[in-house]
Amino acid sequence: MSIPYFKPNTERLWRNIEALAEIREADFGGWTRRAFTPRYAEGRLLVRRLMEEAGLAVRRDAAANLLGEMTGTLPDLPPLLVGSHTDTVPNGGRFDGIAGVLAGIEIAGVFSENRYRPERTLLVADFTAEEPTDFGISTVGSKAMAGGLGPDMLALKDPSGRTLAEALDEAGGDAGRIAEARVPAGSLRGALELHIEQGPVLEKAGKLLGAVTGIVGIKRMLVSFEGRADHAGTTPMDARIDALTGGAEAILSLEGLCRKAGNAVGTVGKITVLPNAANVVAGGAELNAEVRSLDPREIEQLTDAFSRACGEIARRRGLGLTERTLSHTKPVAADPGLLEAVRRSCLARTDRVIDITSGAGHDMNQMALVCPVGMVFIPCREGRSHAPEEWCEPEHLGLGAAALLGAVLGLTGE
Ligand code: HGY
Ligand code: MN
Ligand code: MN
Repeated sequence: MSIPYFKPNTERLWRNIEALAEIREADFGGWTRRAFTPRYAEGRLLVRRLMEEAGLAVRRDAAANLLGEMTGTLPDLPPLLVGSHTDTVPNGGRFDGIAGVLAGIEIAGVFSENRYRPERTLLVADFTAEEPTDFGISTVGSKAMAGGLGPDMLALKDPSGRTLAEALDEAGGDAGRIAEARVPAGSLRGALELHIEQGPVLEKAGKLLGAVTGIVGIKRMLVSFEGRADHAGTTPMDARIDALTGGAEAILSLEGLCRKAGNAVGTVGKITVLPNAANVVAGGAELNAEVRSLDPREIEQLTDAFSRACGEIARRRGLGLTERTLSHTKPVAADPGLLEAVRRSCLARTDRVIDITSGAGHDMNQMALVCPVGMVFIPCREGRSHAPEEWCEPEHLGLGAAALLGAVLGLTGE
């Protein structure tokens, strides 16, 4: 079957980026739309409308994933899914995740206005809560599709005491039927995601598209030091059991371990201090720590070494210590067939293409557990992301959407 040559409408895609960006939380900087907030729900109403306007039949699964379907001419063939997420980090940007969802919708829109139907059914997904949530876990919707959102996770509570199950129900899911969100292995031809690189490699190399060969794994831990809250003015320095200075030492030990490791990265980006008062020696310090690498053994080695370092710090300082693994996603290799389709489509549009790995985690880490996955990267200015400075050029977004469209055609018209 000859594969038609369609071009996405970059102006329409850009207008949708701008429209969704304006639905943001007023009490946060940047373009913030955290999962399970009213603004996130409002943003997904717009996404639903855009899906319908593009000719997609929209439904929510039990994990509140928003799924738009365009039935193919051979509906018995396993569908191809194109997806990403529309939730952001606090003080976030306009493109992380959002570019991929809206590009998927744009592809459906191009098919509809050309009265074209792919052979395979096309699914466009806005995965629920890809970013780390107040429940302590991320990639919630894609985890459910991969069958990994178990009862222990659904019972996790946010600071208000709401459980993840309740939040999913409020978002239009049905936690009681979460098993129905699971995608049986082999039931999808594959999953593709367009995403900004969130790093500087493409821009520095002067490239316009990246064919993603692998995605890092991420292990997230909660490390809590317990000391003794005391008066900051009357407690001599040698009489303190300060949880926060212990935590600070642990944060620096993680940095030192990962600097020495070479390819891995380690971060403590969130700490909770108790009682968090200027004139009180901290009685408690909870660190939200993560380690990332393309090598699963390196993740284990580094998190084991970090745990040993925390134990030594706690013993030396007389602190209590509790540690818990919050989540652990494995590194992912792109499926060779999807990688080839992505490479071919990228090179059909520009020669400024490179293979690239992803230092960011994605919903594709989860989807890789149930189907072949592939990703297309576009540059973002100075590699900045997870910040209001996140930016991609309209023409780069249009080129990325065209490359994604070409890969979709290559995989649905085969
Ligand atoms: O944290 C990540 O890597 C992704 O941007 N959520
Ligand atoms: Mn992100
Ligand atoms: Mn993302």
